[in-house]
Amino acid sequence: MRDTLALAYDWPLTSAAAVTLVIVCACWFLTMPVASFESAGSTLTEGSASRGEIIFAAGGCASCHATPGQPDHLKLGGGLALASPFGTFRVPNISPDPIDGIGSWSVADLANALISGVSPAGRHYYPVFPYPSYTSMRSDDVRDLYAYLQSLPRVSGRAPPHDLFLFFRVRRFVGFWKLLFFREGKSEAILNEDPVHGRGAYLVETLAHCADCHSTRNIFGAIRPATRFAGGPDPEGTGFVPNITPARIGGWSEADLAEMLNSGRTPNHGRVGSSMRDVVANTSQLPESDRIAIARYIKSLPVRPTPHP
Ligand code: HEC
Ligand code: HEC
Repeated sequence: MRDTLALAYDWPLTSAAAVTLVIVCACWFLTMPVASFESAGSTLTEGSASRGEIIFAAGGCASCHATPGQPDHLKLGGGLALASPFGTFRVPNISPDPIDGIGSWSVADLANALISGVSPAGRHYYPVFPYPSYTSMRSDDVRDLYAYLQSLPRVSGRAPPHDLFLFFRVRRFVGFWKLLFFREGKSEAILNEDPVHGRGAYLVETLAHCADCHSTRNIFGAIRPATRFAGGPDPEGTGFVPNITPARIGGWSEADLAEMLNSGRTPNHGRVGSSMRDVVANTSQLPESDRIAIARYIKSLPVRPTPHP
């Protein structure tokens, strides 16, 4: 009688413990950072720095990584503070300094950061670093970008650590975010058979990550698909980034868009301001054919109504 009672009491407890253990193990494996490129014996070798310069400009790396408060956009000492609903992120040093920057990294390390969102130490990066867009970068472009980054001036000193709220500090939780919102290698591009449009798709969706600013995000900080390119509150919390689907800029021609990406001038005799000015500082360095390609892709976006915040 006593034994049966004990069993009746213990059984739910042991099974609850077993279920918890299974869940914990499952979570552990599901959130494990996976680096796709191996450093040792890697077939990824250094590419061409001159081609890498274009990837660097298109990717807008300097907009975040250049040391603030000095004029040289090629000094990538980091330190810029990025406000977000999760706390303040500090952009790291990615200059080729071997101690404070990424001078000791291999091409595979850079590929893992940009494509898998995983650090050389095997930790998740926060998606404020726009790897959810860079993930569809071609490995040739990563090689060229690597060669270019290595050619830039070394900057010593590290940025202060991120200042995040509570459990956002735990990088492992980014693993859950990735399960929900990240597919390695996936691009959101909508393609047709025109190669210029295809180049534009790659520039807009992968490298220049235009949707990262021109969309509305959900409470987890991921882009809400119905608002992609349809505008949204500035991710840093001030102002509203405009809709760039034909719902708003349908009257702009391909040439108008290409002109804005080169000089900042808009067809209504204005000039783009705020963070778009930094984007233009980058797109103005691209070949004209790339600005036309971006314009063609933007013109082809589906009409989406501006969301109300
Ligand atoms: C919107 C701002 C932003 C842009 C644009 C950006 N980054 Fe970053 N990057 C970050 C932030 C923030 C981190 C830190 C992420 C973290 O700590 O998880 C980071 C991290 C990195 C790291 C990892 C550094 C380390 O020490 O582990 C590398 C490498 C990197 N970025 C390279 C690039 C390259 C190359 C580009 C352009 C193709 C680029 N980033 C564009 C914000 C940005
Ligand atoms: C860092 C955030 C950011 C990124 C990345 C970004 N934009 Fe913008 N964009 C803005 C902001 C902010 C404005 C509003 C500028 C202003 O107030 O003058 C803007 C304005 C524009 C406008 C003018 C819209 C209008 O109605 O006047 C166009 C067109 C545009 N962006 C296209 C693009 C394209 C194409 C890309 C990618 C190559 C891009 N943007 C990437 C932030 C961004």
